[in-house]
Amino acid sequence: MKNISKSLREKILTLTEEYYKETFKNSIIPGKNQIPVSGRVFDQHELYNLVDSSLDFWLTEGRYNDEFEKELSKFVNVNFTATVNSGSSANLLAFSALTSPFLGKRAIKKGDEVICAATSFPTTLNPVIQNGCVPVLLDVSIPEYNIPFRSIKKNITAKTKAIFLAHTLGNPYEVKELAEFCKKEEIWLIEDCCDALGALYDGKKVGSFGDLSTLSFYPAHQITCGEGGAVLTNSAILNKAVRSFRDWGRDCWCAPGNENTCGIRFNWKLGDLPRGYDHKYIYSHIGYNMKMTDMQASIGLAQLGKIKRFVKKRNENHTLLTEKFKAFEKYFILPKATLNSNPSWFGFVLTVKKSAPFTRGELIKYLEEYKVASRFLFAGEISKQPAYKNIKFKKPVSLKNSKLVMNNTFWIGCYPAINKYIIQYIVKVFNDFLRQYEN
Ligand SMILES: Cc1ncc(COP(=O)(O)O)c(C=O)c1O
Repeated sequence: MKNISKSLREKILTLTEEYYKETFKNSIIPGKNQIPVSGRVFDQHELYNLVDSSLDFWLTEGRYNDEFEKELSKFVNVNFTATVNSGSSANLLAFSALTSPFLGKRAIKKGDEVICAATSFPTTLNPVIQNGCVPVLLDVSIPEYNIPFRSIKKNITAKTKAIFLAHTLGNPYEVKELAEFCKKEEIWLIEDCCDALGALYDGKKVGSFGDLSTLSFYPAHQITCGEGGAVLTNSAILNKAVRSFRDWGRDCWCAPGNENTCGIRFNWKLGDLPRGYDHKYIYSHIGYNMKMTDMQASIGLAQLGKIKRFVKKRNENHTLLTEKFKAFEKYFILPKATLNSNPSWFGFVLTVKKSAPFTRGELIKYLEEYKVASRFLFAGEISKQPAYKNIKFKKPVSLKNSKLVMNNTFWIGCYPAINKYIIQYIVKVFNDFLRQYEN
């Protein structure tokens, strides 16, 4: 870079940091501002990286993305990470990779059965449907909101080819036992870690147990790129399949801007193509284009540098909320971490007890009035959603807890912008609401 451009760039970046300090004030005033369930938490470093990357004007994946993928692999402790444009894309790619002809006899086929939670997030379930497989919905336990391992084991049949489950709201399921079982039975396991980056099970990061795992970097999540996601795996062959599906289905694995990485670009003989057909334009999968831009990756990299702090703050807030809500246990089922786990709490989840003298709807309305935002546990019992009316599901067990989740469960925020004063306010709002039912 010429000296003049270098000094201009330095000036722009210094001004960017000043701009951040002048412009962004992240504090929430309880009672005045709504207390969100989640949101982006950032400082001048994210803005610096974003502007720095924009000045490269490389636009597609480049130096920041290389670094982000490397650091994600290191953090979760996996061999390979492929960044993508959303968590939903990550889920679609992870499941699609299991249909790859690269996997020979073990490739997933139309009609194969896949175990999913009855309270799944839609895009954890959709890839199963989109690939022509049959979702087998199992009930979750309350207050963990995951399917117990013993229930999964009991419901495996000869048709079960994969298990695709999210660590609900950052609370891990019994993933070590499940991964060992899946390996023995030759069943694929995909961990949807979109809400759980940084959570541990048996002292190891979630996302490092399954054949594949996924992340989301939408602003609600532990770290954000605005939009974005990633697929992680320890398997070189699955990584190759994921990248092929992500990059138009191509067989070639050159990074953007590179060519002839394989050294035999014009000497391949694949499919019914003539020998020497340009490898850049040979397709081994029915693919998509789901790549992330370098600008998104630059934000993600700055965010990843803060992940330990973010997870610690989420969990501290969760602990404080749990302590305070013990006083309301008469009305709510409080959340519980899975045995042998350290969650990375995504939210503080509550189920209104059936015996409570009020409904979830009445409470939520009150919370809205006092500017405490809340969310339902995603789609509830998902097969009840209009989009799934004509989808063929298998439901081998009663879904009574999932029904309770649909009717009585909700969650409030514990993300890092929330502090003890905000929690004090939240507790006061709940207390004021509940006082009318005390006798
Ligand atoms: C469990 C789970 N999986 C997948 C996704 C999809 O991620 P994205 O919004 O990045 O597409 C979400 C979104 O919040 C989620 O909560």
